[in-house]
Amino acid sequence: MKRYKNASELYDIFYAERKEDIAFYNQVLTKYKPVLDNNRIVEIGAGTGRVLLPIAARHPDLEFHAIDVIGDEIAVLKQKAEEQGIDNIVTHVADINAFSDKEKFSFAFAPFRVLQHCQSVEEMNRFVNSTKNNLTENGRFVFDLFNPWIHMLVREGVVFDGNYYDKEGNLINRRVEINKRDYFKQTQNIEEYYTVRYTDGQTDKFEWLYTTGYFFKDTASMVLEKNDLSVENLYGHFDRTPFGKGEYPGELIFDCLKKRKER
Ligand SMILES: C[S@@+](CC[C@H](N)C(=O)[O-])C[C@H]1O[C@@H](n2cnc3c(N)ncnc32)[C@H](O)[C@@H]1O
Repeated sequence: MKRYKNASELYDIFYAERKEDIAFYNQVLTKYKPVLDNNRIVEIGAGTGRVLLPIAARHPDLEFHAIDVIGDEIAVLKQKAEEQGIDNIVTHVADINAFSDKEKFSFAFAPFRVLQHCQSVEEMNRFVNSTKNNLTENGRFVFDLFNPWIHMLVREGVVFDGNYYDKEGNLINRRVEINKRDYFKQTQNIEEYYTVRYTDGQTDKFEWLYTTGYFFKDTASMVLEKNDLSVENLYGHFDRTPFGKGEYPGELIFDCLKKRKER
């Protein structure tokens, strides 16, 4: 009987239904592919490869790089790539803030609110600056953020408690708490607790504790502009509805082009 070793091995079970963002990132990459500077693509905060693997499988002519600070996440990604026979992904267990690639990437993307892990505007600036430095001259950076949803920002305590079954019929409970909101710093602690009840009666418990920040549209836009990334499209939904047009709160999705240096 399979026993889970860490929280990363459970991630894909919780997000099995989340597919709209995969389609969006694939569409955007496909649209820009003919004009990219090179065939090197990077996902920053690639996690378990939920988004990267289906996209890499569709573009065997491109070389994909996966960066994540959590080794357990990259281990899951590598194992899935091997099982699925996907061989155009290079992995890096690294923090984007300390990552440098001489050859540079023509397209960088960071799906599912990776930049929420920045806990201040300064941290976001560092993240964006390092991303820009790893881009080619006409490089692109596409990512999404949580659109700060005023009603959600007042909630504390348990915000989600639900059950899932894995393929082997084991029951997994996921409980998410939001605590220690700091309205000055615009941060909060997220506590995720998982209990696995195996079909043979055994139990495992895992947790994932982290702090996130939230950033309004104009703050993020100014950080991007400061780093010579021009926001060409700003969407509010993964179906590419412009920001502000669809239902509130939607998402905050940036499609940016690196500004050419004046000669
Ligand atoms: C919510 S997960 C998203 C994973 C994946 N992109 C997806 O859509 O399923 C955010 C990931 O970003 C990673 N991350 C956060 N800050 C990072 C940084 N500075 N450098 C590299 N990875 C980072 C985290 O370790 C985590 O795996």
